[in-house]
Amino acid sequence: MWVQKTIKNRKTLDYFANSKWAFNLSSLRRFTTVQPPELPPFDYQPVAYNGPSADEVFEKRKKYLGPSLFHYYQKPLNIVEGKMQYLFDENGKRYLDAFAGIVTVSCGHCHPEILSAIEAQNKLLQHATTIYLHHAIADFAEGLAAKMPGNLKVVYFVNSGTEANELAMLMARLYSGNLGMVALRNAYHGGSAATIGLTALNTWKYPIPQGEIHHVVNPNPYRGVFGSDASLYAQDVQDHIDHGTSGQVAGFISETIQGVGGAVELAPGYLKLVYEMIRKAGGVCIADEVQTGFGRTGSHYWGFQTQDVIPDIVTMAKGIGNGLPLGAVVTTPEIAQVMAQKIQFNTFGGNPVCSAGGLAVLKVLDKENRQQHCADVGSHLIGRLRNLQQKFDIIGDVRGRGLMVGIELVTDRKEKTPAKAETAVLFENLRVLGVLVGKGGLHGNVFRIKPPMCFNKDDADFLVDALDYSMSKL
Ligand SMILES: Cc1ncc(COP(=O)(O)O)c(C=O)c1O
Repeated sequence: MWVQKTIKNRKTLDYFANSKWAFNLSSLRRFTTVQPPELPPFDYQPVAYNGPSADEVFEKRKKYLGPSLFHYYQKPLNIVEGKMQYLFDENGKRYLDAFAGIVTVSCGHCHPEILSAIEAQNKLLQHATTIYLHHAIADFAEGLAAKMPGNLKVVYFVNSGTEANELAMLMARLYSGNLGMVALRNAYHGGSAATIGLTALNTWKYPIPQGEIHHVVNPNPYRGVFGSDASLYAQDVQDHIDHGTSGQVAGFISETIQGVGGAVELAPGYLKLVYEMIRKAGGVCIADEVQTGFGRTGSHYWGFQTQDVIPDIVTMAKGIGNGLPLGAVVTTPEIAQVMAQKIQFNTFGGNPVCSAGGLAVLKVLDKENRQQHCADVGSHLIGRLRNLQQKFDIIGDVRGRGLMVGIELVTDRKEKTPAKAETAVLFENLRVLGVLVGKGGLHGNVFRIKPPMCFNKDDADFLVDALDYSMSKL
């Protein structure tokens, strides 16, 4: 009772977030008669862990790794094993992984078919580079091209999403002969010197030259100044082209559901309008599918298809490798040709092990019908979350598609004031209950639910019950 009454005070919430109360399950039980929800059963015994403790790992990490590293939770989690949609800590405690290593583990942790493809290739040849022939890279490129619409048939392999966006921007500039790139506010496109310029969240931007980038008003239906009116947002793009450039641009890049920015789905119809304007201004259109690709949105295989457009360049990473360091850029033969004027090389891009693993990912996603599964489980999850929204005013918005879902928390629904402190408390308490979610948005007040795609309806129910239980304690 004490917790329920006093927790309404913001200062108390901050205290709660920073104290041992926030991660002590018995403290949660003590103040309620309703029992906390339990994880769905899972028939798997983790291997006994004999390695260093969380404290030891944390100390070593602080001593030898860069100070810019951040970690989740007051007391950082030492995750030592993963199996499909579950993770295990050093004590064998099981967690529902609703964030998939930041939207990366697409098929499931240590998926047996992907593991065996990687292991088989590992034993034969790990690395030789593209100066020699190897079938794995060609097979994987063929598999990926088969998944693309239109004339998007030429693949470049890289090692990460940042590298993919770097290469895409380079191609756009070379192909168009222009410099200016248009990107959305609230976007995240990478952390390298050039992609920091595309990224538009101050928390991720160092004060360095940002290049010739025009950040346009974000077509965010929940918070945006024009609501869901795509044409008004698109006018801002034309305005930038007319007033901030020579009238010609290199290209436009966007996610179709902003990931780091807090699962923000662009106003319907926006990309169609903007792609037309950009092409008229001599630029190419780039879809960043690093988070939205491979069927995660449920309704479509690629996020851009939800807006009924075909980009000129598509970038991908994360889910493409189920955890392998892998990224790709897919474009048309005409655009790809501009790279042939010089030598373009990437030592590890499309290496045999990553290619074998990546091809296995494509096959597993098809074989297990994951796109449809994401649609089914996602609509169940979103439906239950919308019911929860009726119960708790703190839930300002529930949004997303398939298994790419955001829950935005606000202290005042009208003002949409970010519920930062409350989000922090709930985040810690979800972990105690055994649920690991992500956080996003400029103010860190959006829960990001983007689990491995094998996440099922029982997992969704458990997650919503855990949220319900935690919110009822606020
Ligand atoms: C949409 C998007 N693009 C690009 C990147 C950069 O990918 P990476 O971290 O693999 O460099 C990310 C990473 O979170 C992302 O979410």
